Amino acid sequence: MADTIIKMEDLAFSYPAEEGNVPLAALKGVSLSIERGSFVAVLGHNGSGKSTLAKHMNAVLLPLGGKVWVDGMDTCDENLLLEIRRRVGMVFQNPDNQIVANVVEEDVAFGPENLGVPTKEIRERVDAALKAVGMEDFVLQAPHHLSGGQKQRIAIAGIIAMEPACIVLDESTAMLDPSGRREVLETVQRLNREKGITIVLITHHMDEAALADRVVVMDGGRAVMDGTPREILPRMEELRAIGLDVPHTVELLYGLREDGFDVPVDALSVEECAGAIVAALSAKA
Ligand SMILES: Nc1ncnc2c1ncn2[C@@H]1O[C@H](COP(=O)(O)OP(=O)(O)O)[C@@H](O)[C@H]1O
Ligand SMILES: [Mg+2]
Repeated sequence: MADTIIKMEDLAFSYPAEEGNVPLAALKGVSLSIERGSFVAVLGHNGSGKSTLAKHMNAVLLPLGGKVWVDGMDTCDENLLLEIRRRVGMVFQNPDNQIVANVVEEDVAFGPENLGVPTKEIRERVDAALKAVGMEDFVLQAPHHLSGGQKQRIAIAGIIAMEPACIVLDESTAMLDPSGRREVLETVQRLNREKGITIVLITHHMDEAALADRVVVMDGGRAVMDGTPREILPRMEELRAIGLDVPHTVELLYGLREDGFDVPVDALSVEECAGAIVAALSAKA
């Protein structure tokens, strides 16, 4: 049996209704197990329930129906709240809202300080966390002067310093320029591979989802698809129907197939896609 870090069983949630309205169901029975050490992308258009789902992963929201366990701990058990929050860290969309101190090292130390970690150990954790996100040269800098990508890496370092088992990133690249996005994505891929930290990457970018081991697609408060990127991302018509843009590589390969070229539709990366086209052209020649 795979070791599960987050388990959701028939999770349902509605936000309180505005006066005179019926409550709106944001999650309508989601069952999902996230394996320890995996890298899972949660893909879905605006309003599909991604953030509501994310907030159940560290007990910021509690289920109205069904159950959520983090490392075997029921999120409804108030006594376990701190332990759950320590296990699963959350990175949000806006890098500017996540900075709490005027010096990088103090910002990263904030989490472990709140956990009551001894001072000497905090120093070690801060240094290790900044190194893990490639920001060790910025220890004494003012976070406000950093780029968006660097700020998000500082936010990630602040979470790593709490030694979580899992990091949930809720559209944490949405406000970044392409190089900032790349910095953050490379950082989380490395943390997953080298430190075995479970990553849940919430996004509406297909190309980001392609980096994961597994893609869960949300639509209307339900998980409607679940599989490897190679299984899910080529399902172009279905993805389009629920408001998602398919990767340019998949779109190009679909077009070529329609024109009679014998290419696969699951060559997701630009390199694979180029290779597939070259192979198809040489076969025709
Ligand atoms: N704080 C809130 N109060 C009321 N409704 C909300 C709130 N947050 C989200 N919703 C509603 O819940 C649904 C799911 O939202 P959300 O989980 O934020 O989706 P996503 O992150 O995929 O955009 C949407 O219909 C949204 O309007
Ligand atoms: Mg959201």
